Amino acid sequence: MVEAVQDAGVVVTGAGGGIGAALARRFAAEGARVVVNDLDAAKARAVADEIGGIAVPGDASAIVAEARDALGGRVDVYCANAGVASGGSEAAAENVWALAWDVNVMAHVRAAQELLPAWLERGSGRFVSTVSAAGLLTMIGAAPYSVTKHGAYAFAEWLSLTYRHRGLKVHAICPQGVRTDMLDATGSAGDLVLQPTAIEPEDVADALFKGIEEDRFLILPHPEVAGYYQVRAAEPDRWLSNMNHIQQKWEAGR
Ligand SMILES: NC(=O)c1ccc[n+]([C@@H]2O[C@H](COP(=O)([O-])OP(=O)(O)OC[C@H]3O[C@@H](n4cnc5c(N)ncnc54)[C@H](O)[C@@H]3O)[C@@H](O)[C@H]2O)c1
Repeated sequence: MVEAVQDAGVVVTGAGGGIGAALARRFAAEGARVVVNDLDAAKARAVADEIGGIAVPGDASAIVAEARDALGGRVDVYCANAGVASGGSEAAAENVWALAWDVNVMAHVRAAQELLPAWLERGSGRFVSTVSAAGLLTMIGAAPYSVTKHGAYAFAEWLSLTYRHRGLKVHAICPQGVRTDMLDATGSAGDLVLQPTAIEPEDVADALFKGIEEDRFLILPHPEVAGYYQVRAAEPDRWLSNMNHIQQKWEAGR
């Protein structure tokens, strides 16, 4: 049991399936009271019923107040997990870019706007962002996803460096492939770069809880991502050439 989450009021967005459902199950198993959010109301209710949680369906951007009421007026942990896997190039439609910004970045910003006043007053709060390795690196064939996940990572980093001396804990989870509906929908690029090393949603929950115990910001369920991230920082052109080889392999296989 992780002491920090026992009896805590926890909100997990996009928790009707995949990684969010695994996080919700794990928080419940650790003794937390969990609000299960998803755009898909039936899925949110099914997970909430299973874990003895409370379903608050709807758009992740607009449920913080209702979730807080459902938890008796206090949110201790907020997991900004809902995301959209917007693929495409620079030519992706405006509405594809707009949805990616809205769900992958602005939902986090809007939640923080609602949560921070009470957290700063109390001197405690925990913000968990399900980013992606695409937020540290870049996903082949998915410009809107890569750009907005970099945004989500930057926002989590900004929150952490701005408020850590005032009691805010922030965790950025950056997995590569995880076996969920989203991974199934990533098509041939996902088959090439994500499927071979894909892990289970429960592995992501395990990595988060280890990170909570160790008080770590960056959560890497695929430890090898740390090495890629170092190469990207230290030798950008070598890293870009490596990535371009993968791009060319993907183009040749399509
Ligand atoms: N699966 C992967 O390989 C992988 C890898 C890295 C990061 N991620 C990230 O993990 C998070 C969870 O994805 P997943 O793989 O579990 O996918 P998933 O498709 O299984 O689950 C995502 C859930 O979010 C819900 N959702 C979408 N938009 C929403 C909104 N506006 N408000 C509320 N709910 C919404 C969907 O209905 C769905 O149930 C996402 O942020 C994703 O980008 C996934």
